[in-house]
Amino acid sequence: MYNFFFIPVKKCLYILVFYSFFCVINTTGNMQHIVIFASGTGSNAENIIRYFKNNATKSVVAVFSNHSDAKVVEKAKNLSVETVVFSKEELSNGVVLSKLQAFQPDLIVLAGFLWMFPTSIIHHFPNKIINIHPALLPKYGGKGMYGNHVHQAVLKNQETETGITIHFVNEQYDEGKIIFQKAVSVTDCITFEDIAQKVHQLEQEYFPKVIEQLL
Ligand code: GRF
Repeated sequence: MYNFFFIPVKKCLYILVFYSFFCVINTTGNMQHIVIFASGTGSNAENIIRYFKNNATKSVVAVFSNHSDAKVVEKAKNLSVETVVFSKEELSNGVVLSKLQAFQPDLIVLAGFLWMFPTSIIHHFPNKIINIHPALLPKYGGKGMYGNHVHQAVLKNQETETGITIHFVNEQYDEGKIIFQKAVSVTDCITFEDIAQKVHQLEQEYFPKVIEQLL
């Protein structure tokens, strides 16, 4: 009686343990890794982390930043995402590249990252590095065109619309192949902050969705 009951239960336990182990291996094996680079506030980074938080196959595995005291570092830590802070030298001498490789990224997302990405890293990850720009490229792109400088220029030139551009990263600022653009009317905007707010809303809505589609 004892044996009759005990053996099947033991077998069931073995099968259950084996099956759970298989599931864990299978899930982690299929997990696609997103790594974010950001320099400042990190509202995009936070939004992307939250968007993929409960996703079984896509996950933000690390946030890299060039400022230890950037808000994005604090936000990532609060959301239990690993952070890596690096210097300009480490970005170009291979230290960042090897730390990046350790995370096995499927997509590298620049979300408000202000330094030029080195060619060595770009060549290691062809078509795997994307950036978001707060305007409709090729307008208002290039060196010095970031953050509020972009919105101020849009206001000054009395543009009727602006928007967001998500593009692959190449060796030139804001010149990689365009993946996605979304425009918004700014005829009702009086200050550059009004424009910034509209662009911000587009970023929050579309950036995570574009990332999801790319993976
Ligand atoms: C965003 O406007 C993005 O388009 C640009 O940098 C800004 C980053 O903002 N590349 P945040 O740090 O995500 O708040």
